[in-house]
Amino acid sequence: MLDVKALGERADTMIRTLGSISAEPNRLVRSFLTPEHRAAADLIAKWMRAAKLDVSEDALGTVRGHWPGYSEKRLLIGSHIDAVIEGGLFDGPFGVIAGILAAEHFAAAGRKLAFGLDVLAFGDEEGVRFPKTLSSSMACAGTFDSARLEMTDRDGVTLRDAIVRYGKDPAQIVAAAYSRDVAAAYVEVHIEQGPVLEYKSQPLGVVTAIAGQSYLNVEFLGEAGHAGTVPMMLRRDALAGAAEVVLLAERLARETKGEVVATVGLIRIPAAAANVIPGNVALIVDIRSGSDAERHRFVDRFKSEIRALADRRELGLTITQTRDVPTTPCDPALQEAMAEAVRAGGGEPLYLASGAGHDGTAMAKLCPIAMMFVRCRGGISHNPAEYASPDDMGIAVAALIRFIENAKL
Ligand code: GLV
Ligand code: MN
Ligand code: MN
Repeated sequence: MLDVKALGERADTMIRTLGSISAEPNRLVRSFLTPEHRAAADLIAKWMRAAKLDVSEDALGTVRGHWPGYSEKRLLIGSHIDAVIEGGLFDGPFGVIAGILAAEHFAAAGRKLAFGLDVLAFGDEEGVRFPKTLSSSMACAGTFDSARLEMTDRDGVTLRDAIVRYGKDPAQIVAAAYSRDVAAAYVEVHIEQGPVLEYKSQPLGVVTAIAGQSYLNVEFLGEAGHAGTVPMMLRRDALAGAAEVVLLAERLARETKGEVVATVGLIRIPAAAANVIPGNVALIVDIRSGSDAERHRFVDRFKSEIRALADRRELGLTITQTRDVPTTPCDPALQEAMAEAVRAGGGEPLYLASGAGHDGTAMAKLCPIAMMFVRCRGGISHNPAEYASPDDMGIAVAALIRFIENAKL
């Protein structure tokens, strides 16, 4: 018999311990290939060793805990240990911890399965540090493009240098890739990050697909000027153009009636000062949809309206699309197996799509994927108020254990 309550309490304690590892004392800040990433990875490795898993780390710092099976095939169970700036404790870490607790269930009892288990703690899901994200899972999937090594963070540090400073060798990234014969499936447990499970009074959901994403980097070039002397009609204010883009994103997305969501969460004014008309502003528009066709239609219309407003305001404009990630379907057979594992625990699985991005998007290039969602309070995520109850986490870990027990890989 699984002690569901004890599993949930252990998950909660582990999440809080991991959550204390931050670059700042009063909020969670944990980015890819930083000292905090190092400390979090070390803690995960310690837990994996205590769970009797063989621990290794690849060239991008992904921690792997392995429990061997009777064949070379492996079920990969993963999530991420990086966080957004001022993030919550559960987004990512819960999936890694659920994987460790589930693998421990078999490893501690010396119970070998037909396939091995690899618990993966990725470090680059949130895309906070570098312009492109999912490098860790792409390396595991064998799709890491080495051109990424030249991308830079805000301080001008290349990914290549960040890897070296982390004590790793960029030439070894290719060795992180799983072979298709070995990687039988990838499964991820994650808080829902939305309100549906709570609304429907269900602790667990089965994910049908991960929404596609576009990122547009928009830069306006106007003319910097004195805030006190340049008449309003003679200004070429780059920030006023950017403000129109924010409202345009909101208006056009609302017009799609739920098909597309669009967000401007980052605006940079390089020479910001209260008494200077902004001459240069850059922003990123995050656009997501469950339908690639709707997303592409939205991006085309959005770009043409931005061009029109830049013309009207006599602003120079550069639009660079840094992401165009298609919707990733979860494997139908694995969805059913996941639903069965939920039912076996007495729950009624809710099928729902993920609006958030996940490492599964990258892993789906390697093998079939499945995801389980766990109810979180108020649907709140990317926010320190993020919360999933110990009881729900225990139910999720138990369902993951049943999924593993019954998996036919
Ligand atoms: C990651 O959380 C994302 O969906 O951006
Ligand atoms: Mn996440
Ligand atoms: Mn996130």
